[in-house]
Amino acid sequence: MNATDQPATGVVPAHVAIVMDGNGRWARQRLLPRVAGHRAGMEALRRTLTHAVRRGVRVLTVFAFSSENWARPPDEVAAILRLLGQALIDEVPRLHEAGVRLRVVGAREGLEPALVDGIAEAERRTAANTALTLNVCFNYGGRWDIVQAARRLAETGAPITERTLAEALALAHVPDPDLVIRTGGEQRISNFVLWQLAYSELFFTDCLWPAFDEAEFDRALAAYARRQRRFGRTPEQVAAPAA
Ligand code: IPE
Ligand code: IPE
Ligand code: MG
Repeated sequence: MNATDQPATGVVPAHVAIVMDGNGRWARQRLLPRVAGHRAGMEALRRTLTHAVRRGVRVLTVFAFSSENWARPPDEVAAILRLLGQALIDEVPRLHEAGVRLRVVGAREGLEPALVDGIAEAERRTAANTALTLNVCFNYGGRWDIVQAARRLAETGAPITERTLAEALALAHVPDPDLVIRTGGEQRISNFVLWQLAYSELFFTDCLWPAFDEAEFDRALAAYARRQRRFGRTPEQVAAPAA
């Protein structure tokens, strides 16, 4: 990676999480069915993943299907499930070649056994890869995650502390997101990584997900680089940590 490849200043976030919103509107603008937007969204994800590796991002977490998205019309839900199944077949060899470790994060309940097997196989195959960890949040909700973590702790009788709870969450294998991007113009979290975004920097863009490209990603990275993360401290303390 050379200097001209980099956004102008500052550090690259180790973990970028993205709410990939706006597929449906992107399609409607083109008089296409919503599912065409989801397909174009897959392209945007490929692009984004490649660029994340290029920029030195270590973890990319994307919101692909929420616990609440089951409420959509059945044909749209079925199309999204098919897209995931197809992506596991088409994309995993490429991901593996690029050194990407894939994790599909979310409840397995409600998913076809064949899809659950495909997920397990893809995760197993890419488990030792180290270039970047890609978390695809599918059938995922931040509240679901906190509840399943609390249940697991209760079952084992473990003490409930911030640390034990964090370690029981479905994203415990990665550090908290440094930067959360939401495309599609809405300024809300929609039950994404609730616990882990306590101190994430947020970046909202009107860009619809299928149109998200390297330039827009770099704008988000540049905005992040300009932020001062204080974690409760004063600006002066952060600027001169020894003081
Ligand atoms: C995000 O795009 C993808 C999913 C939630 C599965 P949408 O499908 O929500 O697109 P809009 O928000 O309707 O444009
Ligand atoms: C959030 O988008 C979920 C995903 C991107 C998978 P939604 O489109 O479901 O969010 P709301 O309903 O507008 O809040
Ligand atoms: Mg949406």
